[in-house]
Amino acid sequence: MVLDLIRLDTASEVPLYRQLSSSIAELIGRGGIRAGERLPATRELAGLLGLNRTTISAAYALLEEQGLIHGHVGRGSFVASHPDSGGELPSTGPRINWDAILPREELQANNPAHSIEISFSSSRPAREAFPLASFRRLAREVIDSPQAADILQLGSPHGYGPLRRYLLEEAKAAEMAGPEDDLIITNGCQQAWDLLARVLAPAGTPVVLEDPIYHGLWQVFARAGAEVIPAPVTGSGVDTGVLEQLFQRHRPRLAVLTPSFQNPTGATLPLNQRQRVIDLAKQHNVVLLESDIYSELRYREAALPRLKQLDTSGRVVLLGSYSKVAFPGLRVGWVIAPRPLVAHLAALKQMSDLHSDHLSQAVLLRFAESGELRKHIERTRDAGSQRLESVLRACREHLPAGARFTRPDGGMSLWVELPPPLRSVDLLPRVQAQGVDFLPGSYFSAERSHPRGLRLSFGGLLPEQIERGVRIIGEVAKRELQSSATYAAQEPVSAVV
Ligand SMILES: Cc1ncc(COP(=O)(O)O)c(C=O)c1O
Repeated sequence: MVLDLIRLDTASEVPLYRQLSSSIAELIGRGGIRAGERLPATRELAGLLGLNRTTISAAYALLEEQGLIHGHVGRGSFVASHPDSGGELPSTGPRINWDAILPREELQANNPAHSIEISFSSSRPAREAFPLASFRRLAREVIDSPQAADILQLGSPHGYGPLRRYLLEEAKAAEMAGPEDDLIITNGCQQAWDLLARVLAPAGTPVVLEDPIYHGLWQVFARAGAEVIPAPVTGSGVDTGVLEQLFQRHRPRLAVLTPSFQNPTGATLPLNQRQRVIDLAKQHNVVLLESDIYSELRYREAALPRLKQLDTSGRVVLLGSYSKVAFPGLRVGWVIAPRPLVAHLAALKQMSDLHSDHLSQAVLLRFAESGELRKHIERTRDAGSQRLESVLRACREHLPAGARFTRPDGGMSLWVELPPPLRSVDLLPRVQAQGVDFLPGSYFSAERSHPRGLRLSFGGLLPEQIERGVRIIGEVAKRELQSSATYAAQEPVSAVV
């Protein structure tokens, strides 16, 4: 044993026996003492190191407890060989059992066995459409600007001041923020949901969520312990008749709604229904969280006012994001809400990540102020309109009789209901085997319902990919139907929602 490598510090607060056992463990880990080698007897080592014999015994006992050495009465202590390492020694103490520590919850695994060429599974913009040249130029301008040092400095949990002021002024000009409102910048809209759920929906709080709904949204509310109350979404947005009953029966504190181009259905709530939602919320004293991340992506029909613009009672919290209209990778979203709520969100955000990255915010501000964002949104709308036409045409042409699908006026997604007895989860592996992917309906509800539903996110795909992808889904669905005994008994259902 290489005694000169043993380092002990008598001035340290760490007891000597612990220092000694760590030193020996390190030596074992580095191969300084090999498997099967005998350690010096306690009396011998005590003499060599000038320590009390009980210190050596305590250190050996600790090493034995860690499985690094074995003691044999009358023969001494020997370095163990690690059973899992084929005779190799562990570098430190016994291996930690992560299974015993980690929560027992099912993690989402979405790794198809096949390589996917056409993926309808992600609601994101087309990467080919990113205006890289102007983005690079504007990012360079930001980095070269006199504000660079401020951008690199620690900032406020409310967000990068210049972007915050810009967004708040824009919102005020459009009557999306009132004099009582403030704005906080978050890491995408996703973080905003998380903060809002934690502030407004502690365990047991009844919260109405649309159904089907974006997975990442119900997840954060469920995780916060909220009592999730599903409100059905039809082809024209949330069913306000059911919403009224839910408000009466459950007295929820919150309702989370996406009035324009809801994810996953693409549905839009008509103006009179928006007004009804506001009236119901007032009547039942419900706070409305309005997701407004898709509303700029309108390809047909006139724009509708947001709930926030219709409300005069200060009960609507508006969530925005640059993820769908610009670059999801920069992770910039925001919340417009009454000042006291924003203060709570900021306090919680500070605990989590201090504040969002300044550089992303500064570059997006430059992108918006220079007019490039506006131009990019125009181009995205043109492309989106063609993509929407393609997906609707492909659904009409290729889905089996009895399939129903929504007809969005914008956004990135459309919802399909397959005819019975088809189940979208069963279809998925067969579709994936042909290089196409989608998300099955069960993914969009807390209760894993919607077995026949599936979401087609078309925003990031080219028209020809959309046509081919839907054709493959349709062919697989038709084949499945033909091989199903019950098919013959089915009556055709009218074509669209
Ligand atoms: C309703 C909803 N909220 C949040 C997100 C995530 O947005 P962000 O990238 O801004 O975090 C999505 C993305 O699909 C969404 O549909």
